[in-house]
Amino acid sequence: MAKERLDKLIASTGRWSRREVKTLVREGRVLVDGRIAGSAEEKYDAESCRIAVNGEELLLRRHTYVMLHKPAGVLSATEDGRGRTVLDLLTPELRKIGVFPVGRLDKDTEGLLLLTDDGELAHALLSPKKHVDKVYYARVSGRLAPEDCAAFEAGMMLGDGLECLPAGLEILAAGETSECLVTLREGKFHQVKRMLAARGKPVTYLKRLSMGSLRLDDTLAPGEFRLLTAAEEAQLPRFFVEKRKNSLQIMSKPSIMISFNQQVAQTTRVRVSGGTPCQGEFSRTSFCNSRMRSIPRSA
Ligand code: URA
Repeated sequence: MAKERLDKLIASTGRWSRREVKTLVREGRVLVDGRIAGSAEEKYDAESCRIAVNGEELLLRRHTYVMLHKPAGVLSATEDGRGRTVLDLLTPELRKIGVFPVGRLDKDTEGLLLLTDDGELAHALLSPKKHVDKVYYARVSGRLAPEDCAAFEAGMMLGDGLECLPAGLEILAAGETSECLVTLREGKFHQVKRMLAARGKPVTYLKRLSMGSLRLDDTLAPGEFRLLTAAEEAQLPRFFVEKRKNSLQIMSKPSIMISFNQQVAQTTRVRVSGGTPCQGEFSRTSFCNSRMRSIPRSA
């Protein structure tokens, strides 16, 4: 990782502005590898040094990931001329970093919303091809029944022509009003509401509980947010963390380089350049005018 100014590195945590970092440095409250930093302008490689503020070692990241418990009544957009958006709930420092919501929740939907400045991860979490499950808790009018679960599992075609992938429906309580968990691997417009409405059970309350391995922290009240922990970050899809490295060296066939962007074709032992050896399934590729292209499996 390239070296960056100390104030920029510390401000990237979203906890202090660059101006505040300058004050912290002046007051001798910033340590780099155990020594008091001399100036906020010093440059360091965040991957190879340890930076502590007020005695607490910082988890420095290339990207910022924020978990927000979205309340009802705010839009999951970056700007809206008329109303409040989820960005208005964050600190100015986080807004300045340029985090944006990963996908949308309806204005009246509550629950887990991830905000990040990591475009690749956002794409991965939203792509139906990556099969990242999103789990919602819903309250509906009407009695949910096993036939509703079967319809969700089969994949529904809605009256307006919307085709839905197979989805999960777990009934938690059934009566005049019912409660359920809905698991989707895609995120079409108003999808949970439309699927349940198509079964004659209109949604009266909706809350997202999880996206992939990331679960809403139940100590966060609606409107509150926090940065992801190191453990939560480590569980974000590995593929996309590793993809950030430039290239891979195939250890068994050193003459060939492969890219993570290719389709699965064969299992090959690879080494991430500058990283640790790993095992994965990747297609064979060749260089062509310094760009990569796939070689058919039979080649
Ligand atoms: N499905 C919906 O209907 N609304 C949401 O906000 C999210 C999923």
